[in-house]
Amino acid sequence: MCFKDFKVFLVFLVVRIASIFLVQTFFVPDEYWQSLEVAHKLVFNYGYLTWEWYLGIRSYIVPLIYAALYKVFQVLSLDSASNLIFGPRVLQACLSAYSDVCFYRWSGTKKWAVFCVASSWFWFFTGSRTLINTLECALTSISLSKFPWPGKGVDESSSFIWIIALLFVIRPTCALMWVPLCIYHLTFSKKSLLNLVMGHYLPIGLMVLILSVLLDSICHGSFIVSVFEFLKFNLLRDIASFYGVQPWHWYLSVGFPAILGINLIPFAVASMIIIKNRTAHPNELVILGTIIFTITGYSFLAHKEFRFLLPLLPLVLYVSSRFLSVWSRKASNFHIWVVTGIIFVGNVVPAWYLGMVHQRGTLDVMEPLREISMTNVKETSLLFLMPCHSTPMYSHLHVNVTTRYLTCLPNLNSIENYIDEADLFYNDPSQWLRLNFPVNGTLPSHVICFDVLVPYISVILSGYQKIHQIYHTNLPISKRIGRYVVVYERTDF
Ligand SMILES: *[C@@H]1O[C@H](CO)[C@@H](O)[C@H](O)[C@H]1NC(C)=O
Ligand SMILES: *[C@@H]1O[C@H](CO)[C@@H](O)[C@H](O)[C@H]1NC(C)=O
Repeated sequence: MCFKDFKVFLVFLVVRIASIFLVQTFFVPDEYWQSLEVAHKLVFNYGYLTWEWYLGIRSYIVPLIYAALYKVFQVLSLDSASNLIFGPRVLQACLSAYSDVCFYRWSGTKKWAVFCVASSWFWFFTGSRTLINTLECALTSISLSKFPWPGKGVDESSSFIWIIALLFVIRPTCALMWVPLCIYHLTFSKKSLLNLVMGHYLPIGLMVLILSVLLDSICHGSFIVSVFEFLKFNLLRDIASFYGVQPWHWYLSVGFPAILGINLIPFAVASMIIIKNRTAHPNELVILGTIIFTITGYSFLAHKEFRFLLPLLPLVLYVSSRFLSVWSRKASNFHIWVVTGIIFVGNVVPAWYLGMVHQRGTLDVMEPLREISMTNVKETSLLFLMPCHSTPMYSHLHVNVTTRYLTCLPNLNSIENYIDEADLFYNDPSQWLRLNFPVNGTLPSHVICFDVLVPYISVILSGYQKIHQIYHTNLPISKRIGRYVVVYERTDF
């Protein structure tokens, strides 16, 4: 068990719990819409499910974890909005801290391992978020620590195969990273190939798959294999590219350097040393190969995101932390402090900016909206005129008010010249508003949008007054996003 190093666990726990309070910004919609919102709907019976859940391309395993927590809150009448928001993050932070200790053990219980993991800006930024990728990264670290790396004296148990199987049903794309490592396992294991495949991989994989299909079918209400549906939609029909297409080299030129930041330097130096002395570092060579293989595989998919690289982070930090601890044995104290200082500052800056400053308005706005909704549940109706899923929803409101937001369903029925609702709206806001809110119809009590949109929706806002203006970001990532989130209230409300 990784808990043998209890003091180190406490250090990591402090860091991960701190990140709950120091990371206050919006990252991606999936953090809420593929986890908390689903759990909220399961437990409290109201809320939105996105199209993924109607088609059954996601496994219910992760939402069920949060739903279990929500259920406990509900039973104990502790289901306040702040518990619903922070409870799941505390849960994930604890698991992340545990996975950090596992990483520490795996990489040879070195101080540099503690430092590299605790200071990694991207892991600080994501380690306490309710993203599936965060869970995936934590489970990956745990699994890597149980992997029977040759020369490490780890007993060859199959516990890591259970975790890989679980990872696969949660997020099938993780196969890309584990295929090279599992093939490596097959080549060095003392057990025969037949024994490994028929006695371990296949039965464990099947057992986990059957359990997950059972679980998903119960939650979905009919028989469904979400892994299969996921692959069908994302790979065969390439629905994901509806949400943005990046050039093939994006992971190499943007994604990978960005999530590593300053850690790219020790990683690059370590990689060169490993490649030069290949025969002396067989495990590290396989790790490098796995990183390259995974990035290459992901590069073939048109839709690319930073968070997809998250499970590679333990591999990268393993390589760089081991290199740093070998280097520090010969280096002077002064040099060690300089390097530590540079790595620390190089990570603190992006962690602070992205965690505290950039894109915080869409989360901050939920609190005043919750207060408005609670004081007048019946009459309140919230209209979000923002790119789809710009904010969380019922997991943060926790009031059964009427809400309406612009949807962005992909073209599931292969309609020609398909335009989603959000694009339709942005092409001509006044036209869309006239169609959806006819002059004599009831208007929503509140309109929530970015400041940049205000001049385009004057047709509706004449009967409203601005009641909140909330800072969002200095660097809007698209023309539809502004520096402020504004809330307008109908004057006769
Ligand atoms: C939530 O509100 C909607 C619309 O007012 C209503 O139909 C539904 O029954 C409510 N759900 C719960 C669980 O209160
Ligand atoms: C809509 O409202 C206007 C004035 O506010 C009124 O003159 C008109 O008759 C109304 N139309 C309908 C269909 O109710």
